[in-house]
Amino acid sequence: MTRALYSGSFDPPTNGHLDIIVRASKMFDELIVGVARNPSKIPLFTVEERVKMIQDCISYIPNVRVVHFGGLLAHFVNREGFDAVVRGLRATSDFEYEIQMAQMNARLFRPGTESVFLMTSPRYSFISSSMIKEVVSLGGRADGLVPPNVLEAIKKKYREGVSK
Ligand code: COA
Repeated sequence: MTRALYSGSFDPPTNGHLDIIVRASKMFDELIVGVARNPSKIPLFTVEERVKMIQDCISYIPNVRVVHFGGLLAHFVNREGFDAVVRGLRATSDFEYEIQMAQMNARLFRPGTESVFLMTSPRYSFISSSMIKEVVSLGGRADGLVPPNVLEAIKKKYREGVSK
């Protein structure tokens, strides 16, 4: 049985992330979506809120589970015994960061764990979570780029007065 982790900050999850989840779920027996407590980013949503938003979007896919984790990605991967870590690539600009991370992780992962890259659908390759937050916070339209429950949650945050 093959198990893979799709990790990221998902603050918030976008349709680009969901596209990767759907496609990766067909490649592995089990796919765990791991929401990271990323120490280098100040999030809009708590990890619990991000887990719930993703769960609400993917509940129809039987082999996908959503969890959150903290600390080093490689420690989580080794502890859970994943066979692969999935990442999405949007453009060549992602490549430099991703190869650095993959090569560092290759030193840290237990032998046999692979980093697997899926090209983001061209429909979503221009978006990022930060761009979505900025557009919505300034009153712009982001429908079609994030699921409706996520769009509503972002609007609610900004209505409640959370600064960008
Ligand atoms: N569609 C749309 N957007 C996408 C996307 C897709 N398919 N794939 C990535 N993105 C965007 C995200 O929205 C995000 O945008 P943002 O920067 O505006 O928030 C950006 O690409 C990168 O995000 P993500 O893929 O979530 O990576 P990350 O760098 O935030 O987190 C971790 C990656 C979780 C693996 C890592 O950084 C981390 O925190 N690990 C824990 C610490 C660790 O192990 N460090 C050592 C690593 S070697």
